[in-house]
Amino acid sequence: MELLQSIIAVVRKAGEIMLSAEHIEETVEEKSGRANYVTAYDKKVQAFLFDRLAGVFPDAAFIGEEKEENPPVSEGYVFIIDPIDGTTNFMKGYCASCISVGLLKDGQPYMGVVYNPYLDEMFSAEKGRGAFRNESKIHVSDHELKEGIVLFGTAPYNEELSKRSFSLAYEFFERSLDVRRSGSAAIDLCNVACGRAELYFELLLSPWDYAAGALILTEAGGKIMTADGKELTYEKKCGVVAGNEKALQVWTEVASDIR
Ligand code: IPD
Ligand code: CA
Ligand code: CA
Repeated sequence: MELLQSIIAVVRKAGEIMLSAEHIEETVEEKSGRANYVTAYDKKVQAFLFDRLAGVFPDAAFIGEEKEENPPVSEGYVFIIDPIDGTTNFMKGYCASCISVGLLKDGQPYMGVVYNPYLDEMFSAEKGRGAFRNESKIHVSDHELKEGIVLFGTAPYNEELSKRSFSLAYEFFERSLDVRRSGSAAIDLCNVACGRAELYFELLLSPWDYAAGALILTEAGGKIMTADGKELTYEKKCGVVAGNEKALQVWTEVASDIR
């Protein structure tokens, strides 16, 4: 089986762990930062992915949100994994969470898989080969921002960014049809990638939130950069903005003035 298909098969199987979860709230533990939690299922999904993906790809290194200590991004192959993106939704039974598996090759995105088991939507991409939702090729929309939907994340674990996040959301609400806040950065990036929305921004994310989604989005013809307009990094946290070209242009004009 081709490597991407093997990753997809593992991720689909991991989705079953999310769907069969019971008494989630009894397994919740607090992490550092505001309203930041982990459940036993985040750890279970991560352990499953590490184990199965190491079988598929023995040479790869692993970075994962729920790992105690992560290695730096190295040369060669590195998986960057968010076992459950949208943990708050997951805890509440809100059914808008996913598994996000990015694979870097020499520091650059090489493969990406984002799976929302509730909708059975498997987003995937391989560098240079386009992006897919299940078996269908996807593309960002061609709409102007004023005819578009803006997705945003509130950077919830970083209270100091709340006011600016909501001011930006207001500015972009005024310049679009409407705004949405889903609770999963990886799902947001995929929704822009398949043309359901035109822009996504969040003022602070970790590489596991966007490693897979960034490749899916760029392979779908979209653009992604740091919130201050620089090239995306996979080595540390950063603000992220992504969209079709027209929407990103508006971001560049508007966002730098909003404090
Ligand atoms: C979070 C989600 C959320 C975003 C946060 C992320 P987690 O990931 O993607 O939408 O606003 O910034 O940290 O903690 O649920 O894996
Ligand atoms: Ca996440
Ligand atoms: Ca997570």
